[in-house]
Amino acid sequence: MCGIVGYLGKQQAAPILLEGLKRLEYRGYDSCGLAVLRKKNKIQAFKSVGRISELEKKIGNKKLIGFIGCGHTRWATHGAPTEKNAHPHSDCQGKIWLVHNGIIENYQELKNKLEKLGHKFKSQTDTEVLAHLIEEEQKKEKKLEEAVISALKKARGTFGLVVISGNEPNKMVAARQSSPLLIGVGSGEYLVASDASAIVTHTKKVVYLDDGEIGVINGDGLRILNLDNREVAKKIQEIDWNIEKVQKEGYAHFMLKEIFEQPSALENSLRGRVIEEEGLAKLGGIEGVENKLKKIDRLIIVACGTAYLAGQVGEYMLEEYAGIPTEVEYASEFRYRKPILNKKTALLCISQSGETADTLAALQEAKRKGAMTLGIVNVVGSSIARQTDAGIYNHIGPEIGVASTKAFTSQLCVLALLTLFLARQRQMSYVMGQRIAREIKQMPELTKQVLAESSKIRKLAKKYCAFEDFFFLGRKYNFPIAIEGALKLKEVSYIHAEGYGAGEMKHGPIALVGKDFVTFALAPQDSVYHKMISNIQEIKARQGPLIALTTKGNNEIKKMTRDIIYIPKTIEMLTPILSVIPLQLFAYYAALFRRCDIDKPKNLAKSVTVE
Ligand code: M6R
Repeated sequence: MCGIVGYLGKQQAAPILLEGLKRLEYRGYDSCGLAVLRKKNKIQAFKSVGRISELEKKIGNKKLIGFIGCGHTRWATHGAPTEKNAHPHSDCQGKIWLVHNGIIENYQELKNKLEKLGHKFKSQTDTEVLAHLIEEEQKKEKKLEEAVISALKKARGTFGLVVISGNEPNKMVAARQSSPLLIGVGSGEYLVASDASAIVTHTKKVVYLDDGEIGVINGDGLRILNLDNREVAKKIQEIDWNIEKVQKEGYAHFMLKEIFEQPSALENSLRGRVIEEEGLAKLGGIEGVENKLKKIDRLIIVACGTAYLAGQVGEYMLEEYAGIPTEVEYASEFRYRKPILNKKTALLCISQSGETADTLAALQEAKRKGAMTLGIVNVVGSSIARQTDAGIYNHIGPEIGVASTKAFTSQLCVLALLTLFLARQRQMSYVMGQRIAREIKQMPELTKQVLAESSKIRKLAKKYCAFEDFFFLGRKYNFPIAIEGALKLKEVSYIHAEGYGAGEMKHGPIALVGKDFVTFALAPQDSVYHKMISNIQEIKARQGPLIALTTKGNNEIKKMTRDIIYIPKTIEMLTPILSVIPLQLFAYYAALFRRCDIDKPKNLAKSVTVE
C-alpha cells in the first residue's frame, strides 16, 4: 500500500523524508518520490520507479535544500508504475505539490472539467486532479488550507494527503478521509505519516487525524480543522511501540494483520464496481473486451495454490449463474499438456503476485494458441497484469505474509463480480442481478462479523493444536474451501491436513478416521447441508473429534459437537468468503501455539517465480 511522509521543522527535510520512506518500504511499493520547498515559489521534486535507493541515486549530490517537504511510496492503482505517475504530483505551474493515499473515485469527471478550464495533466493518476483542483481554488485568493478544503469537498473517495505550496512557503497541510494519517509532534518540528513507523524514531508524540480533519502546520504550530474550516481540539497521544510492532499495526504477525484487514480489503476490491440498482458489475478493466466476452462459450481458469482454489469456487459461480462451461486447471499442468483452445475460449489467470512462473507460462501458451486472456491480479503492473488482454485488479494493497488470506477473499469477491458481469450479458434477470449485487455489497460487513468470533476460534485452536492429523470436509461451494483450510493449516503450522469433498470420504479416506484424527466440517445451511450432516454422522460413528462450521441460528448441529463456529447467512455462492476466515484464523492460532515462524513458513516463498 502507498506510504506518506511529510516534514516541517528546523532540520533539512530531504534526509528525514528519505529515512521515513525507507521505513515504509515493508508495505510494498513500485515507485517513489519527494518534493522539498526551498523558498517562495521554488520547489524541487525527484521521482523514481523502483526502490528508494534508485531515488537516492537520482538525487545524487544535487543540492536539495529546504525545511519543508513531502515524500511518497506508490503502489500503483490508477496508471502503471512509471516515473510520471509517481507522487508527488503538481499543478500546472509546479507551485502546489502533494502526495496522496487512497482513490479519488470521481477523478475522471473532475479531470474533464479541469481540462475544459485549460489544465494540462502530466500523469494518468487520479491523484493529480487534486493538485489542479487546489490550484483552481487558490486562484480565488484562498489560503492553502481553505483551497484544500474546497477541493476535497468536490472530490469523492478516500484520501490521506499532504500538500505544500510555493505560494505559502512556511506551511504544510495534511488531510484524512478513510485513509490513515497522523501528525508527529517533535521539538520545533512536525512530521506527517500514513503509518507511525515512518516517524517513530523522531518522536513518539502524535495526533491521529480522524476522517474529515485537516492539519495545518506552520511556524506557529499545529491547528486541526474540520471540513467547515472550524478548529477541532485534539489530544496528543504517546506511541509506546517499537518499529516492527508499528509496521504490523500492533498485530503479532502480518498474517493476522492481513486476516483482520479483510473487511477493508474487500471494500477496496468492490469500490465503485457494484451497481445495485441495475444489478450490474462495473469492471473498467474488462470493458474494452466486453463485446468479445459476449461471444465466449468456454472459460479456462489457470492458477496455483490458494489462487487455484479461488478459481474452483469461481467455476461453480460461473457455471451456475453465467452458464459458461468453465474448467479450472493447475497452471503447472496446463502448460505441459495439449490444451484445446479456440477463438471462443477465454483463459483467466488468477494470481496475487502476478509473477507466479507457472501461471505466467500457462498464459503465454494460451496466447500463442490465440485464446483471449484475462487476469485477476493484485500487483499492478506485474507480468501477468501486463501480458493479459484485459483484467481486474484486486486493489487490496500488498500481501506480505506468505500464507495468502486477504488475496483469497478478494479473489472470490472479484470472481463474484465477474460472474455478475458475464451473467447479465447473458440470461440473468435484472432482479436476480440486483439480489446478487446487494449480497456482494454486504461482504465487508459480514466478514467483520466473522472476525468478531476470533477469540472463540483461538480457544478451539488451543484445544486441538496438539493433534497431528486433520480432515477438512465441504461440499459444493465449500469443497474448495475445505482444501484451502487444509492448505492453510499445513502451510503455517506444519500439521498434516487434507481437504476433501465430503462425498469422497466413503471412497477411501474415511479409513483414517478415529479418535486421533480431527475433522473440520463445513456445513453452512445451503443446498447440500443435509448431505453434510450425513457425512458428519459418519465421522461421529467412528469416534472422530469434530469441529463444525455452520450458519448462525442452526441448533441441530449442537447434537453432534460442542465445537461449533457460526457464520452469518448469505447466498450460497458467497458463503466461501465467510467460511474461509475461521479456517485462516484456526491455522494462524494453531501455528502460534506450536511456535511456528508464521509469516515465513519453512520451505516457502511469497512469490514462486521458478517452476
Ligand atoms: O501470487 P499467486 O497468487 O500466483 O501465488 C499462488 C500460490 O503460490 C499461493 O497462493 C500459495 O499457494 C500461498 N502460499 C498459499 O497460502
